[in-house]
Amino acid sequence: MFTNNELPPEIAQHRHADHEIDPLFLKRWSPRAFSSEPVDDAVLMSVFECARWAASSNNEQPWRFILARSEADRKKFLDFLAPGNQVWAKAAPVLVLIVSKKTFDYKDRPNKTYQFDAGTASGYMSLGCALNGLIAHGMAGFDGDLARATLGILTNFEPIAVFAIGKQGDSSTLPPDLAAREVPSGRRPIAESIMEGHFIAPDEAQADTRPQ
Ligand SMILES: Cc1cc2nc3c(=O)[nH]c(=O)nc-3n(C[C@H](O)[C@H](O)[C@H](O)COP(=O)(O)O)c2cc1C
Repeated sequence: MFTNNELPPEIAQHRHADHEIDPLFLKRWSPRAFSSEPVDDAVLMSVFECARWAASSNNEQPWRFILARSEADRKKFLDFLAPGNQVWAKAAPVLVLIVSKKTFDYKDRPNKTYQFDAGTASGYMSLGCALNGLIAHGMAGFDGDLARATLGILTNFEPIAVFAIGKQGDSSTLPPDLAAREVPSGRRPIAESIMEGHFIAPDEAQADTRPQ
């Protein structure tokens, strides 16, 4: 087992990589307690610079990031979040709606990887946050139609996910049920995610005793 002394104890206690990886991958997690401290503009741009270099089909870069930092913009974004997300996301100094273009610029053909590519970029963005001492928490719980109407999103772009970004706050600022869940999650064994040469059904994979 790979143990990493560079990890903060609150993460090392809950997360263990079985193979050697950069600690950044374990440091990235999705707390809900945000500090209201603003995020420095240069740091935020560095986060999006990370996202910018994600790979995409045909280098289409279908993602777009719509930011809400002012009080008025954050209020607009909060209004299209699911109530369960509003509770904690309201404290975040930055909200980001990721939208993705469904067609290639070239000849306007459908781009079947527009969501996949936006997901890749959001992963880079989240790791960019961890690299810069920020937290990012993704949300699928939002009303895409309301977001589209509120922000004037064109029909060939689809709202994919909202992310709250900021510095980590104290879990005591959260309602008790959410404070109790403020713990880094684990992952299933890696052998259940990797198959060689053919598909293995999830229940067979769990019983699989191949060396990892
Ligand atoms: C696309 C996406 C949508 C998510 N939607 C929500 C959400 O609506 N509300 C929420 O509280 N967490 C949401 N999450 C957070 C996940 O539950 C979290 O990433 C997952 O449990 C893994 O934990 P970790 O990010 O701390 O490693 C979302 C994450 C992603 C990537």
